[in-house]
Amino acid sequence: MRVLVHTDAAEAWREALAERLPDAEILTSAAPADERRRADYLAAWKPSAALLGELTALKGIVNLGAGVDAMLDNPALPRGVPIVKLRDAGMAGPIADYARYGVLHFQRDFDRYRRQQARTEWRECPPVDKADWSVGVLGLGAIGARVAQALADDGFPVHGWSRSPRTLPGVRCHHGGDGLRELLPEVKSLVLLLPGTPATREIIDAEALAALPEGASLINPGRGSLIDEAALLDALGDGEAEGRLRGALLDAFPEEPLPASSPLWSHPRVLVTPHMAGPTPLGEALDQVAEALRAMDAGEDVETIDPEAGY
Ligand SMILES: NC(=O)c1ccc[n+]([C@@H]2O[C@H](COP(=O)([O-])OP(=O)(O)OC[C@H]3O[C@@H](n4cnc5c(N)ncnc54)[C@H](OP(=O)(O)O)[C@@H]3O)[C@@H](O)[C@H]2O)c1
Repeated sequence: MRVLVHTDAAEAWREALAERLPDAEILTSAAPADERRRADYLAAWKPSAALLGELTALKGIVNLGAGVDAMLDNPALPRGVPIVKLRDAGMAGPIADYARYGVLHFQRDFDRYRRQQARTEWRECPPVDKADWSVGVLGLGAIGARVAQALADDGFPVHGWSRSPRTLPGVRCHHGGDGLRELLPEVKSLVLLLPGTPATREIIDAEALAALPEGASLINPGRGSLIDEAALLDALGDGEAEGRLRGALLDAFPEEPLPASSPLWSHPRVLVTPHMAGPTPLGEALDQVAEALRAMDAGEDVETIDPEAGY
C-alpha cells in the first residue's frame, strides 16, 4: 500500500510509520504530484482542498485528530471513502486534567482570589464542598467518558450527556433533547466535549445558558462552534462583577487563532487557552494510525466515522 502523510511533522511521521509498516510505501505531501496522486491511503490533519482533490485513488483516510469537522467540511473530500479518526490516543488524560483545572478554578474560587489579589484584598470565600458541586460533561465519547469518570473519581457528582443512551459507573447519564434539559439546571460547571457537527452547532445558546443555575461556569475543550458567542458574552455580563454566568475557560474557538479583536481576550472572567487541552502524544497516535492502515488494507472491519452524523 502507498500512504501519503500530511501534517506539520510529516517527515517524523513518515519515518515512524515506515518502521511500523515495513511493506508500505510512505510519502509526505512534499513528494512529486505524480507520486502523490497514486496514494491508496491518506493520513492527514487538515489537508488543503488542493491536496485532497489530487487524490483520486484513495481507499481510506486516517484523520490525525479526534475531531473530523475540518475534514468533513473540506469541499474536495471524496465521497464514500471510509474515514478513521483517532480515539483517545493519549489525549483523554491531558483533557481530563484541563477539565479538572477548570472545575477547581471555580469550585475553589481561584477566579475570585485572582481578582481580589489585584485589589490587595485578603478575604476567604465561603468554601463549597465537592459533593455540592455537580459537573456536567456533554459528550461521552472516547475523551468525554474518560473526563466524566476522572471528575467522578475526584468526588464531584457528575452528569453526562450523549446522543444515544450510555452507562458509565459513577456518572448519571442522560441523552437526547430531554436529557439535556434535565442536566443543565443541575450543574455548577459545564464541560463541553461534543464534536463540531450540524446538530451540535451553537448548542450552548441563550436558552441553554439560561437553563444553567445562577453562577454556573463553562469549560470548553471541545469545539468553538458549540457556543453562541454573543449569548455567552451576554450571560457573562460586563466587567468584574459576576453575571449570571460566573466565568468561562475556553480552549476552542470558531476561528483559530482567536482574532485579536475578540472581546473574549480581555474579558476579566474568561480564561483563553490556545487549543492546547489535548496534545497528541506521537507514539500512541502512530500505533493507532499504523493499525488502522494495516486493517483497512487487509480488508478487516475498522471503526469508521459516520459522515451523516459528522463524527
Ligand atoms: N481541545 C483539544 O485539544 C481537543 C483534543 C481532542 C479532541 N477535542 C474535541 O473533543 C471532541 C470529543 O472527542 P471524542 O474523541 O470523545 O469524540 P467521540 O468519541 O466521537 O464522542 C462524541 C460524543 O459526543 C456525543 N454526541 C455527538 N453528537 C451529539 C448530539 N447531537 N447530541 C448529544 N451527544 C452527541 C456522542 O454521543 P454517542 O455516544 O451517542 O455517539 C459521543 O458521546 C472532539 O470532537 C474534538 O472536537 C479537542
